[in-house]
Amino acid sequence: MLSKKIENALNHQIKLEADSSQFYLAMASWAEHNGLNGAASFLYRHSDEERMHMLKLVHYVNERGGKAIIPSIQQPPTSFQSLSHIFESLLKHEINVTKEINKVVGACLEDKDYTTHHFMQWYVAEQIEEEALARTIMDKLKLIGNDKGGLYLFDRDIQTLANAPVPSPKTA
Ligand code: FEO
Repeated sequence: MLSKKIENALNHQIKLEADSSQFYLAMASWAEHNGLNGAASFLYRHSDEERMHMLKLVHYVNERGGKAIIPSIQQPPTSFQSLSHIFESLLKHEINVTKEINKVVGACLEDKDYTTHHFMQWYVAEQIEEEALARTIMDKLKLIGNDKGGLYLFDRDIQTLANAPVPSPKTA
């Protein structure tokens, strides 16, 4: 059984994952609208992954005797300056998500809730990957700068990342 404190912390995380999904969906749509189809595929997929992160938490809270709260949808930005701006925002956002996940993990240790602590390790590992990926993409974009040919190749390459198989929440 979850304590109220842990239940609230997990519900806060559910909202953050849902907001992440909406944020990346807005980025994906902007990229698609601007003919950046590779980046759009990558971002649509990333948005789906965030929804999966949210669902995994929803199931966990309900299975552990708590009540998962489905948050309202927040309006994300409707336009972005550039692809670099998008991936900079994405990296910043992920760094914040990592901080929030660490807070949940800290609360689990304070409460001696080792079951939830164990469950949250999946998110801890996932954040390492997500931040590393966002940093790699940012490094590439910095190298490309304003080179249109480079941007064209980048958009084609990022499509490969978007086509990699999506890990399932149950098996990950
Ligand atoms: Fe679910 Fe990108 O953190």
